[in-house]
Amino acid sequence: MERIYIKDLKEHIGQEVKISGWVDVRRDMGKLIFLDFRDESLSKVQMVVLPNNKEAGAVASNVRSEWVLEIVGNVNKRPEKMIKTDVPNGDIEIEVKSIKVLNEATTPPFDISTTGSEVNEESRLKYRYLDLRRERLQKNIRMRHNLISFVREYLGQKGFFEVETPILTKSTPEGARDYVVPSRLYNGKFYALPQSPQQYKQLLMSAGFGKYFQIARCFRDEDTRGDRQPEFTQMDLEMSFVEQEDVMSLIENLIIETVKKVSPEKKIQQVPFPRIKYADAMSKYGSDRPDIREDKNDSNLLAFCWVVDFPFFEKDKQGGWTFTHNPFSMPKPEHEEMLMKGENIGDILTTQYDIVLNGFEIGGGSIRNHHSKGLMKVFEIMGYAADRVRENFGHMLEALDSGTPPHGGIAWGLDRLVMILRNENSIRDVIAFPKTGEGRDLMMDSPSIIEKGQLDELGIEIRMK
Ligand code: AMO
Repeated sequence: MERIYIKDLKEHIGQEVKISGWVDVRRDMGKLIFLDFRDESLSKVQMVVLPNNKEAGAVASNVRSEWVLEIVGNVNKRPEKMIKTDVPNGDIEIEVKSIKVLNEATTPPFDISTTGSEVNEESRLKYRYLDLRRERLQKNIRMRHNLISFVREYLGQKGFFEVETPILTKSTPEGARDYVVPSRLYNGKFYALPQSPQQYKQLLMSAGFGKYFQIARCFRDEDTRGDRQPEFTQMDLEMSFVEQEDVMSLIENLIIETVKKVSPEKKIQQVPFPRIKYADAMSKYGSDRPDIREDKNDSNLLAFCWVVDFPFFEKDKQGGWTFTHNPFSMPKPEHEEMLMKGENIGDILTTQYDIVLNGFEIGGGSIRNHHSKGLMKVFEIMGYAADRVRENFGHMLEALDSGTPPHGGIAWGLDRLVMILRNENSIRDVIAFPKTGEGRDLMMDSPSIIEKGQLDELGIEIRMK
């Protein structure tokens, strides 16, 4: 007999079916044993073992929550007065014929039938495979899949190619600390995990791909918050022969279509998305990621806006200049001369555009400087010696000089977008296996020490702080 999903049971009323899944709760009423049963179709059904079925009754009296069973039984309509309208499948019931125990289960450390908000997060993350069984997390992770699938389909149709870029790479300046990986073959040398695929995607433009995107994993060693993780996912994109307007309108349409597809219950406050200058955002809202929702109680309201006209440079702690977003950006066309002359540095505005949703920065990008002289100038303003620039970015400068077209792009923080669409407060609830606030994986117990033999191969000796 072929297995069917609980969500489809209603098509089989009066028939004998086979279903497999987990016991939610067992209720022993003496003569009758009830099992609330669920499967991966995120549906539930009540099953009853009648007193005349001695064999199944003996098995059922032993089963506990989270045991994995295969059930053969009849799908019966419930008598009128037993119908429950407030639960799925409340009008049917399975009369159990036979039970096969596929696996037993230890008592779960916490209740998984709830949203989980009452459970300590450390415990949830330690037993994440159980925590993920809750309906809320199942729905979050499934919706994330739907969103990624839709973006892939949409961009594919528009002629974009998804290209994977390396994880073992070299430090990129995105403003955070790098995670590094020691090299065995080159003792004393390290790879860095990418903070974003920024350089690679620009090099793909140089390589002539024209339209690139990637669902890309990024790594940043910074303090974790509700909307930050040490490793997170970007929807990263870059295009050739474009101006600011081209990227912004493509992205705006993609977002609108994505919301329609994956979260049709949501209402977008304003289309086209309002554009706010950085200076106005700061004076009016005191933030460069303003929450412009007209009604903050409406859980289905999405207030997108673009923030533009950011200063290119700001003063760092030592009093020198540093970039606000991305050293590879182009200044606004009317400020290019100021950059090249190194004049009024604090007034130079960049082509950077950030996309903000309900007070969260969910993405950012810019038009890039495709002239090596311009990029060189940015590093010069930041006080980098010419040989250090050549050493770190020689490949970028050479690529720009080898016939790189004008280009620009953007990256969304995919986790943040999904978090907001799912009305979650933390991106940890939309990532299958997130790290704790302290950057630990409590389930795998990482970071962890490695064996001396491994350290020796890497030429590393540990000095405890
Ligand atoms: P940026 O650094 O602004 O730009 O990153 C793009 C988006 O990624 C999200 N984000 C994060 N999400 C979760 N955890 C984090 N630690 C984290 N850090 C960033 C944010 C942010 O808007 N290469 C450029 C993009 C470009 O210019 O094309 C970049 O990475 O939502």
